[in-house]
Amino acid sequence: ITKTQVMSTRDIEEMIKTLPQHTLSWLKGRLTLYNYQGIWFNTKLLVGVILAQQSFKTRPSDVFLCSHPKSGTTWLKAIVFAIITRQKFDESNTPLLTTMPHNLIPSLEKNIEQILENRHNDSCLTAITTNIPYNILPESIRASNCKIVYIYRNIKDVIVSYYHFLCGIHKVPIEDAPFEEAVDEFCRGINGSGPYWDHILGYAKASLERPDITLLLKYEDMIKDPTSNVKRLAKFIEYPFTAQEEKEGVIESIIKMTSFEKLSNLEVNKSGLQQGERVVVPENRLYFRKGKVGDSENHFTDEMNEKIDKLIDEKLGHTGLVL
Ligand code: A3P
Repeated sequence: ITKTQVMSTRDIEEMIKTLPQHTLSWLKGRLTLYNYQGIWFNTKLLVGVILAQQSFKTRPSDVFLCSHPKSGTTWLKAIVFAIITRQKFDESNTPLLTTMPHNLIPSLEKNIEQILENRHNDSCLTAITTNIPYNILPESIRASNCKIVYIYRNIKDVIVSYYHFLCGIHKVPIEDAPFEEAVDEFCRGINGSGPYWDHILGYAKASLERPDITLLLKYEDMIKDPTSNVKRLAKFIEYPFTAQEEKEGVIESIIKMTSFEKLSNLEVNKSGLQQGERVVVPENRLYFRKGKVGDSENHFTDEMNEKIDKLIDEKLGHTGLVL
C-alpha cells in the first residue's frame, strides 16, 4: 500500500456506510454489523481492522493471541500476561489483581492507535490479541514468522456467551431478546467476527501449513487439563518453565491467579468499566459470566441442537477438529 492509498479514519467511516449491513433483530435493533471482506464487524471495530490492515507492521518479538469472540480471549490474555511477567510478579502482587486483563494486553483492532504510537518504544515480547480472522489479518502478520496462538471453543457455548454478552452490553433484558432468533442469526454467520466456522477454518489451515508458528488451544482442553496446556503455551511463546519452577509450583500458581474463580471475584472485574472511547463501554463483569463447559445445555432445545450439529458437521466435519 502506498501512502496515498491510506484512508483516514473519516474516509473509512464513510466507506463503511456503503457496505452490506445487518441490524440484529433479536437485540432490539441496537447493533448493526457491516460485512467487510466476508466478515461481520461493528463500525468501531471495523475502523480498527482497516487501520491495522493499512498500517500495522510486526516486530519479530510480537506474539498474536487470536480468537473468535467469546472463546476465552480474556483468560488467554491473563495466562500469557502471568507467564511473561513471572520473574517480576507472583500471586501476591500481580497487576492482574487490580487491572482487567484487557487493559494489560492490547487488542489490535480496539487499540490500534495506541499500538501504532507505542511500536518504537520497547523491544521485549509484545503480546497483542485480535478477533480478526486469519485471512484478513494485516499482511505484515501473515508474512511474518511471529507466533500465533489461537484459542477456540465449542460453538454452542460461544453462542450462549455471545448472547448474554450482547444483552449485557446493550442493556436488553434477556426476556426481551429471543434466544432462538440469536441462534438463527449466528447460524447464518451473522455475528461479530463471524462466520464462526470460517474463523476456525482460517487458523486451523494456518496451523497445518505452519505448525511451528501456530498453536491451537481448545477452551475445553484448558479447563480439563490446565497444567499441560499452560506448559505447552509457555514453551511455544519461548518462555518455558524451568524444572526448578515446575518443582516450585509456578505453573499451579499461574493457573490459580488466572482462574475464573479468582479473576471474577476481584473488585476491578466486578465493578470496573472498559477503557477507551466506544459507542457503548462494556462493564468488566460482562467478560466473566460463568466460565463453564456445556452451559449451552441449559439453553438449547433438541431442535436447535440438531440444527447446529448438522451445520458444524457440514462446515467443519472434514477438518477432524472436535468441537
Ligand atoms: P461464558 O459467557 O460462557 O461464561 P472472551 O474472553 O473471548 O470474551 O470469552 C468470554 C468467555 O470466557 C465467558 O464465557 C467468560 O466467562 C469466560 N472466561 C473469562 N475468564 C475466564 C477464566 N479465567 N477461565 C475460564 N473462563 C473464563
